[in-house]
Order: sequence, then structure tokens, then C-alpha cells
Amino acid sequence: MSVSSRIPSTGWRGVVQWARGFRDDALALTRQIHSTHGPVVQQGGILRTVSLFGPDANRMLLLDRDKLFSAKRSWELIMGRIFGGGLLLRDGEDHRHHRKIMQEAFKTHALESYCERMNPAIADGIADWGSESGTFYAFPAFKHLTLNLAAEIFLGEKLGPEVTQLNRSFEATVAASMSILRLPIPGLEFHAGLKGREHMSHFFRDLIPQKRAGEGSDLFSRLCRAEAEDGSRYTDQEIVDHLNFLMMAAHDTTTSTLTSLMYLLAKHPEWQERVRQESRALSTGPVAYDDLSKLETLTRCMHETLRRYPPLSTIPRVAERAFEFEGYRIPARTMVSIYPIHTHHMEQYWTDPFQFDPDRFSEGRAEHKQHSHLWVPFGGGNHMCLGLRFAEMQIRAVLHQLVQRVRWEVPAGYEMPVQEAPISKPKDRLPLTLTRLH
Ligand code: HEM
Repeated sequence: MSVSSRIPSTGWRGVVQWARGFRDDALALTRQIHSTHGPVVQQGGILRTVSLFGPDANRMLLLDRDKLFSAKRSWELIMGRIFGGGLLLRDGEDHRHHRKIMQEAFKTHALESYCERMNPAIADGIADWGSESGTFYAFPAFKHLTLNLAAEIFLGEKLGPEVTQLNRSFEATVAASMSILRLPIPGLEFHAGLKGREHMSHFFRDLIPQKRAGEGSDLFSRLCRAEAEDGSRYTDQEIVDHLNFLMMAAHDTTTSTLTSLMYLLAKHPEWQERVRQESRALSTGPVAYDDLSKLETLTRCMHETLRRYPPLSTIPRVAERAFEFEGYRIPARTMVSIYPIHTHHMEQYWTDPFQFDPDRFSEGRAEHKQHSHLWVPFGGGNHMCLGLRFAEMQIRAVLHQLVQRVRWEVPAGYEMPVQEAPISKPKDRLPLTLTRLH
């Protein structure tokens, strides 16, 4: 194949369209751009931003066999000043070293102990759901629940009055990481985010001596004790940076998935009932880590939710060197992005991609296995989500209890309005009607 440096471009109109449309309907926009221009598309005329579409592009970028791409450079542009030092904002040997140490806190024995701590906290958190009449807003309710679970599992703290301030600081940091106007001027979102980071960092730093000395099974304590093969450990600053990033990486993504799952099960009550019967048959109480994977129907519904509404609709990198893809030469220092949300809806792979059809993940059909990088809600390669098993555990543990506590519905014809970027969420907070079952 001959190589061309003339990459199809959306032109300047495309840049404007992108800026306006990506946040609100990334799926429609990426489908339109892909069908008009093909699998390699430049945004605008001179901007060094290239979009790649399809599972081959996902594999090339995520596996990065030729060591072309920097995650650090791309994510630093987006959230460097707020979440600097986080695992995703590291490359090469430095990233490998830090990931190896952190893996200790995500091994099976650690997940088992998180699950044990999580179960009573979930029961507590959802105890009054459905007890009041009127509309129940799922998105803020899950935000609140997952923050409390994070305090319990990550920090090992039962948060008292400081939870409100910590919550505010955390919200401010997440909002600021996506701010357009990045100036530390009082009154601006970005300034509030920097303050929030400062507050959280102090909170974490003050606890480090106690966590290092103790034998706690929370994630914070495990990070303090974790060692590389050569015996080296994280410094205090590295622990603070990693915790700040982990809180963010875990919180909004899990909230997003729980909310979308709740929506799809409300739209498809027959599936909600199947999930309920399966949970009842397994146990009417909380379930241990090992048993959660027995919830096969729930697992398929969760995977289908992550296909329809991947919390991260796009994954960016910066090319350190020029490279060739699909007959085009892409220059060094280009921002290159792939789009899980687009790949998850390609008609040539998925049957009726806009339908909720959890059985497409069944062993018999396994549509996602047609290509190694067709279903990529957790990314892939060296930076593949380290919290994948944690996230799946938490989502299953919450749903297992929730589905036995309440039934939920949306009015006939309701369609959830979704903001797909930076992290997928309902624009209307997802109003539901809950009915208590016991
Ligand atoms: C459904 C929930 C989640 C989704 C969809 C998700 C998605 C992702 C994706 C797509 C990436 C890779 C981004 C890239 O390559 O640029 C990633 C990275 C990461 N995620 Fe998650 N995530 C979820 C939950 C979590 C949780 C619960 C944790 C922690 C407990 C976590 C920790 C991380 C970390 C540490 C990384 C960086 C890995 C590295 O750079 O080596 N995530 N996540």
C-alpha cells in the first residue's frame, strides 16, 4: 500500500462542530465523521489532532508495540495540574515501576477484603432508598454512595463532618480537571480545583504516618506498605498523588456505569426481573468476592451497559514519533485519539448495536470476541484499567443488594439524555420511581 501524508480532514467547520457536538453526542458525531472520511481523520486544517476509528486502531494504539505513544503527554494536557503524578500520567519504565507497586493493592486477597468491608457499607448506603415517595434521582444518589464507599475502602475511614468538605474538594478537583479556562484566578472553577487538590492532599498526608505504621487492609494502607521487587516503596508525595488520581479514576466511572445500568434495567423490566431472580437464588444477604462472578445475568447486563455507555468515550495519546496507519503517515507530536463508544456501535460487528441485548456476551454468541479490541471500556495494553476487577466487584455488589431491596421504573417512552464527555452521565440526573420490596 502506498503511503500518503494527506490525511482526510474535517476542515475548520469540523473543528467547530466537534467543539460543540462531542460533549453532547460523541456517538453521533464520531459515526458521522467516520462514515464521511474513513478510519483516519484530521481535525481541522493545521491542528495536529487525528482521530482513528475501529478495532484495529484500538489495538495499534493501546498495545503500542512500536512504543510510539505517550499517555503522559496527552493526559497531562487534560488533567496534569490537578492529577499530576497519577499512574495514567506516567510513561515507560517509570510507569511500569509505579504500576508494579500498585498492583499489590489490587490482588485477589486485597479485593476479597475490600468486598467484605463494602457489603455492610452498601447495605447502610441504600437502606432508605425507596422509603420516600416522589422522584428518586439515581445519578446523585450513586455519586453519594460511591464516595462513601471510597472513604470506607480506599481510606479506611468512617468519615464524620469532614466528609462534606472532602466531598466538595473532590468534586472541585474533578470539575477543574476538565475546565477550559485553566487560570488560578479566585472565582474560576480551575482555582477551586487547585484548592480542592490542596485540601485533599493535606488530608491524605496527615494520615500517612498512621497508615504506614498500622496493618490496615484499606487501599491507602496497602499503598503505604506496598514494595517493588528491589524493596523500594512510594514516597509520601507519590502516595498523595496516586490516591488523588485513584479517587477520581474510580469514582466518576463507577457512578456512570451504575447509573446507566439502572437506566437500561428500568427500560427493560424483564431483564431487571431476571437479575433479581438470579440474585435471590444466590443469596438474600451480601455475597463474597468469589461468588459475585456467579451472577452471570448481571455480569452480561453490566458488560452490555459498558458497551452502550462506556464512561470514557475517547482515549487519547500523543505520538512521540511519526508512524503509518491504514496507508497514512501521521507526524510526530500529533494528538491521536480512539473512540470506544464508536467501536462499540459498529454494525459490521454488533447485531442491532443500538439494542440492549446482554446475551450478545453469552458464550454461544460472544460478539465481543470477534476482535481482541472490539469491546474496550477499560482500555488495553500497559495502561489498561488497573481497577477493572475492583469496578466490576463494586457494581455487582451494589446491584446484588439493590435489586433485592427495590424495583425501579421510568415512564413509558422515556429516553435518558446523555452527556457523553468527559465522562458519560445523564443530563437530567436520571429520575426514577422506586418501589420498596421489603
Ligand atoms: C466502570 C468503571 C471504570 C472504567 C470504565 C474505567 C476505565 C478506564 C480506562 C479506559 C482506562 C485507560 C485510559 C487510557 O488508556 O488512557 C483506565 C485506567 C485506569 N483506571 Fe479505570 N475505569 C474504571 C474504574 C476504575 C476503578 C474503580 C479504579 C480504581 C479502584 C480505576 C483505576 C484506574 C487506574 C489506576 C488507571 C491507570 C492505569 C495505568 O495507567 O496503568 N479505574 N480506566
